[in-house]
Amino acid sequence: MKFPETRARRLRKTENIRDMVAQTHLNISDFVYPIFVREGKNVKNPIDSMPGIYQLSIDEAVKEVKEAYLLGIKSVILFGIPNVKDELGTQAYDENGIIAKAIYEVKSAVPELVVVADACFCEYTSHGHCGVLNKEGELLNDPTLDMLKKEAYVYAKMGADIIAPSGMMDGMVKVIRESLDENGFYNTAIMSYSVKYSSSFYGPFRDAAESAPAFGDRKSYQMDYRNADEAIKECMLDIEEGADYLMVKPALSYLDVIRNVKERFEYMPLAAYNVSGEYSMVKAAAKRGWVDEKQIMIEMLTSIKRAGADIIITYFAKDMAKILGG
Ligand code: PBG
Repeated sequence: MKFPETRARRLRKTENIRDMVAQTHLNISDFVYPIFVREGKNVKNPIDSMPGIYQLSIDEAVKEVKEAYLLGIKSVILFGIPNVKDELGTQAYDENGIIAKAIYEVKSAVPELVVVADACFCEYTSHGHCGVLNKEGELLNDPTLDMLKKEAYVYAKMGADIIAPSGMMDGMVKVIRESLDENGFYNTAIMSYSVKYSSSFYGPFRDAAESAPAFGDRKSYQMDYRNADEAIKECMLDIEEGADYLMVKPALSYLDVIRNVKERFEYMPLAAYNVSGEYSMVKAAAKRGWVDEKQIMIEMLTSIKRAGADIIITYFAKDMAKILGG
């Protein structure tokens, strides 16, 4: 018996056929747009290593989120840059601190916007590490958790819809959930940076957030990129502790990890963070005319979604929104 000849190219014949059979589609509602907020008025400091991204004073940040919302972006993640840093990073949970004010103002300006608050300490500590250090310069887990509780409470009180702990402390989701519930914030969700690797792709972000560690690195708390299976353990712990969303970060060198996590925990919304270095490399190459920025951007973001991400945190959010047409 002669089998019909196998042909794959029929499904690629015309654009409409390709669209009909395409498995992965980007939607505006996939994207979360990161915003850096600092003290002052009318401040719009360009970040050299991240063309198109700025440190904004609150008044400018409010303008920016309004514009983003009009473009169809439904969610932002906020990062604060305080004027004063100290050993403990107390500005992170000061109710009059930059990030608390920014959450409040952004949420008040556009109440429908889903406001995610990154909960960490590296932007607020004088040493640039993500929590409390001992004399030897080691990051202490449980004292950092005590501060995280306060931080989560303040962010929820200021109106954040989602708290996103990014410090990779053990037990961070549990204490945040407790703190939120004790204070009646039952509907404030937790998007855990569950699988966050110690990565050189964060370089430009540390310029933007002024959060580079003054000494050492983050390898004792962020994951080792040689490990994939450990991601499953991190996610399992976070789910047990009460996470509502999981995250893998960075995205592009970690598509295998995104896929593994999605297959294992398909019932959990999964975010991927298309981080600063991934953005800057495209911008740098595009500026030289070496790559087609728009096409590369779409291909990269599509690959992150194809790997299994439901949500993509990306500095390209506005550019994508313009293409997708609101
Ligand atoms: C804070 C934090 C970082 C990023 C997001 N939250 C920096 C870090 O861990 O050093 C990086 C994001 C990016 O590179 O775009 N802990």
